[in-house]
Amino acid sequence: MKPIRHVINIQSFSRDEIDTILDRAAQLEPIAHGTTSDILSGRILATLFYEPSTRTRLSFDAAMKRLGGDVIDFGPTEGSSVAKGENLADTISVMGGYADAIVLRHPREGAARMASEFSSVPVINAGDGAGQHPTQTLLDLYTIRKESKLNKVKIALVGDLKYGRTVHSLAHALSMYSAEIYLVAPDELRMPDSIKTNLIESGIRITETKDLDDVVGVVDVLYITRIQKERFPDPGEYQMVACSYKITEDTLKNAKDDLIIMHPLPRVGEIDPGVDKSRHAVYFKQSFYGVPVRMAILSMVMG
Ligand code: CP
Repeated sequence: MKPIRHVINIQSFSRDEIDTILDRAAQLEPIAHGTTSDILSGRILATLFYEPSTRTRLSFDAAMKRLGGDVIDFGPTEGSSVAKGENLADTISVMGGYADAIVLRHPREGAARMASEFSSVPVINAGDGAGQHPTQTLLDLYTIRKESKLNKVKIALVGDLKYGRTVHSLAHALSMYSAEIYLVAPDELRMPDSIKTNLIESGIRITETKDLDDVVGVVDVLYITRIQKERFPDPGEYQMVACSYKITEDTLKNAKDDLIIMHPLPRVGEIDPGVDKSRHAVYFKQSFYGVPVRMAILSMVMG
């Protein structure tokens, strides 16, 4: 029997496997633009979100339906048996009887790994606390490859590098593409040492700064993130760093012509809407690319 292919973290993929997923996403992109296919006809995806989501939940839903499959969703946890005290292991064990794969978002780091140990079908991590968000990373890589260049990219990761799971997975992935990485964060929100050590051991040059202006004229990609209010143990600490960075048209006056600005979204003030129409803004395209990339992931784990 074929082993189950879970998607828990980005390090479990080789560069070749990532490139294959990105190539597959490119092949599937025309379907994401409005046609349908029967690649996953008869298959069912279960989406279990213990935390809010717009893009991840609905792009998985769209991807599955564009490929001819169906989706079951347990809705807000208050309307499910989680509200009666059911634990994650039991929910996952049951779900294997209803669906061919499970997409799980959970506030606890390590929840997707734990769920995979109880699951008879593939588990796809859609964000585990401040841990990782590997499918976001695959769509981020797809965006960089399509809108800029991926190999040896010069990229600034900006904002909440401590709690932001998208930048954690992306940093690991970029180590496979010889990137040069600038880490821009206030002291309180610096990238965890374990991730920096991994980058350095992979031969990646990293530069840390608090000042966005130091890097805007140097990089090919500016990847800015929301400060993750919900992860702060103390609301007062959040208030101290809440408005650390904001990209405006003025911020970009020294940017390279072909700089791209990315954001996993939602944004809550990090990018002025005046930037949306600039040639640099790709964050809405980036969220669309979630559909073809998630099609590629679903066809990989269920195909
Ligand atoms: N980028 C992302 O994970 O967005 P959602 O929280 O809306 O899913």
